[in-house]
Amino acid sequence: MTRKIIMAGNWKMHKTVGESVALAGQLNAALGDVTEREILVCPPFTALYAVAKALQGSSVQVGAQNLFPADEGAYTGETSPKMLLDVGCSYVILGHSERRQYFQESDQFINQKLKAALEHGLKPILCVGETLEQRGEGRQKTVVSMQVYRGLQDIPAEAMGQVAVAYEPIWAIGTGHTATPSQADEMHSAIRNNLSGLYGDEVAQDVCIMYGGSVKPGNVDDLMAQPEVDGALVGGASLDADSFVRIVRFQS
Ligand code: PGA
Repeated sequence: MTRKIIMAGNWKMHKTVGESVALAGQLNAALGDVTEREILVCPPFTALYAVAKALQGSSVQVGAQNLFPADEGAYTGETSPKMLLDVGCSYVILGHSERRQYFQESDQFINQKLKAALEHGLKPILCVGETLEQRGEGRQKTVVSMQVYRGLQDIPAEAMGQVAVAYEPIWAIGTGHTATPSQADEMHSAIRNNLSGLYGDEVAQDVCIMYGGSVKPGNVDDLMAQPEVDGALVGGASLDADSFVRIVRFQS
């Protein structure tokens, strides 16, 4: 099986509807016919519908940055998987470190979100990653393994074709300090081993493990050249069309 590659832009809390549609239009013009890599943009909630409409028929797909694990109900301020499908999302980022840090999301809650996404046919990207302090103590593999095990609890092997994992060391997010290609590869390999333990080698090999944390046009080629790095989750550098296009068109 050919390796599945996902190149995703996480726009976080950036861009109005007008700005989002303009960027989507530029990306569509430059990347709309790329089929050998999955390309994904994750705009803020307010722009999802407009961006999905602008990208109709394009190979650039749309994802959300979060969801709430219920179909509907009295959950002020939240968004259900059904609503995300309704506005044209096919992916959803879950367990981003900013959600874990600022909104106290636990592994258990993130696991519920993964299950809700899968039940509705949304493809989840499970984010994991250690802090600088944890790395300093040499605990990065233990911390990330726990996030993987707890995040994927009770998710069956058959569903894993729909799940991607993003390794995002917290010390590398938005800081300009990218993990070195070999640091990334080592952590991805550890995650792959965790997945093998849970699901067997065959299933583990097919899970796309993306790297995130200060991915830029200048470092993407070296990161993507690593055998265990199957994609990128890009924050800041995805907000500009030229920069994201160059990242998506990495050369290895
Ligand atoms: P960054 O963000 O590329 O700006 O470091 C990555 C992310 O948080 O997904």
